[in-house]
Amino acid sequence: MDNNEISRIEHLRSELHRHNYNYYVANSPEISDREFDLLMKELEELEKRHPEAYDPNSPTQRVGSDISSGFAQAQHVYPMLSLGNTYSIDEIDQWVHRVDDALAGEKTVIVGEMKFDGLGISLIYEHGRLVRAVTRGDGEKGDVVTDNIKTIPSIPLQLQGSGYPDFFEIRGEVLLPFAAFERLNARREAEGEAPFANPRNAASGTLKLQSPAEVARRGLDAYLYYLLGDNLPYDNHYDNMAAARSWGFKVSEAMTRLYTLKEVDDYINYWDKARRELPVATDGLVFKVDSLRQQLNLGFTAKSPRWAVAYKFSAERALTRLRFVSFDVGRMGIITPVANLEPVLLSGTVVKRASLHNEDIMLALDIHEGDMLYVEKGGEIIPKITGVDVSSRAAGAEPVRFVSHCPACGTPLVRVEGEAAWVCPNKRGCVPQIVGRIEHFVGRRMMNIDGIGEETAAALHAHGFVSDIADLYDLTADQLMTIEGFGDRSAQRIIDGIAASRNVPFDRVVFALSIPYVGETTAKKVAKAAGNIDRLMSMKAAELEAIEDVGPRIALAIEGYFADEDNRRIVERLRAAGVQMSMPEGSGSKALSDALQGKSFVISGVFARHSRDEHKNMIEAHGGKNVGSISGKTDYVLAGDNMGPAKLEKARKLGIPIISEDDFLAMIE
Ligand code: IVH
Repeated sequence: MDNNEISRIEHLRSELHRHNYNYYVANSPEISDREFDLLMKELEELEKRHPEAYDPNSPTQRVGSDISSGFAQAQHVYPMLSLGNTYSIDEIDQWVHRVDDALAGEKTVIVGEMKFDGLGISLIYEHGRLVRAVTRGDGEKGDVVTDNIKTIPSIPLQLQGSGYPDFFEIRGEVLLPFAAFERLNARREAEGEAPFANPRNAASGTLKLQSPAEVARRGLDAYLYYLLGDNLPYDNHYDNMAAARSWGFKVSEAMTRLYTLKEVDDYINYWDKARRELPVATDGLVFKVDSLRQQLNLGFTAKSPRWAVAYKFSAERALTRLRFVSFDVGRMGIITPVANLEPVLLSGTVVKRASLHNEDIMLALDIHEGDMLYVEKGGEIIPKITGVDVSSRAAGAEPVRFVSHCPACGTPLVRVEGEAAWVCPNKRGCVPQIVGRIEHFVGRRMMNIDGIGEETAAALHAHGFVSDIADLYDLTADQLMTIEGFGDRSAQRIIDGIAASRNVPFDRVVFALSIPYVGETTAKKVAKAAGNIDRLMSMKAAELEAIEDVGPRIALAIEGYFADEDNRRIVERLRAAGVQMSMPEGSGSKALSDALQGKSFVISGVFARHSRDEHKNMIEAHGGKNVGSISGKTDYVLAGDNMGPAKLEKARKLGIPIISEDDFLAMIE
């Protein structure tokens, strides 16, 4: 009897995987929804009776549970790079010519496909089963979101067909289809929650949810476009993706082989219009060299493959009426004029607000009250006002003027000479600035303190708990629990996040401080060059300017920031709270030697004596260069344990010396 039930479980699972594919991927269901539900119910019952037959990839596991505790992070086996962008057929033609030149006139076939506008995802399959899903993250490592990804019905948990490698990775884009996006926003507005600006933000917010059950409800979809691994079935991209389709993956039907420049151009012209009929957001096309051998020969730049390029669709334009201009106050006190519009549909999303950037731009547009405005949305998410339809202007309409006082705190605005921005100078008393700095400080790429969004940051300030970033380190769970909506668990999560932020590296601390003009990259360079906070605080503008990428404006801003008594006090309190105030040993900027001058290294695997980052720092300190992936130009591969087999093979093929940690340390002795 039991044996019968076990084999029934197996039968139901394989049937349901198949019906699931027919419905969500192939678009050709064989059975009715009701029949599907009945089979699913039967399987659920049987699984309840046979816990010993538990399978994390069973079709019943897609519904998702409510428990999930933050996301672990995982290193990508192959870094997730981006693509070079082009905006015209001309540029694409130039790319094709560059490829032809690099391949010395070898015949090339180009594959054209859609550029999906969602979130990049990496899926790992072992023996035909989905084992891990990781977000793009910073390209090197991302969040493990397997439980959320499993709820996406078009992603196979168990592959069908045959011929797939035992181990492989497949990459694609997670998206919220337009229909699901509209549904979600309607629900949010009905519940008094802020709607998402566009399907991509909604997909991103959804994938980061801690409740797979809620993820399941929202209706995400996924298209796959890149297969990676050691034993791929074919030596070209197109056939590999077609094989992936046969294993159950959703691979866009728009993928086509193109044999001539003319076919490439026609493909662009066709999809420029036809993409509007697609159920999901696309922001361009991607062209890839089909042959994997040619891809290998072309290799990568530091940021992107030479064998692929993106073509971005040009902006769509709409005309809509201005309701009023409002003025936002940013964390640096900068006042940004924003056009609030009658809602208008643009590239599949509803636009209600568009930035006017600054006074000069606003005045140049010569906007009058009630004007009809042209709104454009290019590849970028933020819509732009590009013009006014003067012919429809009402007689006697007043020009829109810039404010003279801060709309949040009433302080008279100041304008720095030579700058376009008006600034509210009330740094310590102006609420949106205070809240904005807190929000920035806790951000993912800064101190990465989970659970504090705009609303919580505002509440922390309103309750008098946090009025500057250093106050966060005195925050208690009891205080948090007096804020509406907070319970034991959510409060503890924030407290834990704050505790963990004490280990965030110094360069991110510098970024988190909200020093004007100091973004992520500048913060890294400045932190590395200074080495520690005491040195940074004492550096004069002239010294700062010697740092790569730091011009006079940034140098003055940094000097000015640390000349401010309030800022120095905050830094001291952060230091006392245990926040990192120096770069780790061995990461100093000072060149230690030129032993590795001009040599480029790829690091792979894990090491016994130093971390990967330490190795990277040592390479730079001795004049060498770190690159992300192996190409003909790589001088050495520094290999630790568990080096990816694909990298190993590639290095061998290209004849690049593979050195051990000890070899490396001997080189810089
Ligand atoms: S291939 C190394 N193909 O665009 C090549 N990417 O700007 C990796 N994307 O990070 C990417 N559609 O998230 C590829 N058909 C497509 C794509 C695509 C969308 C995204 C992807 C990538 C980004 C690059």
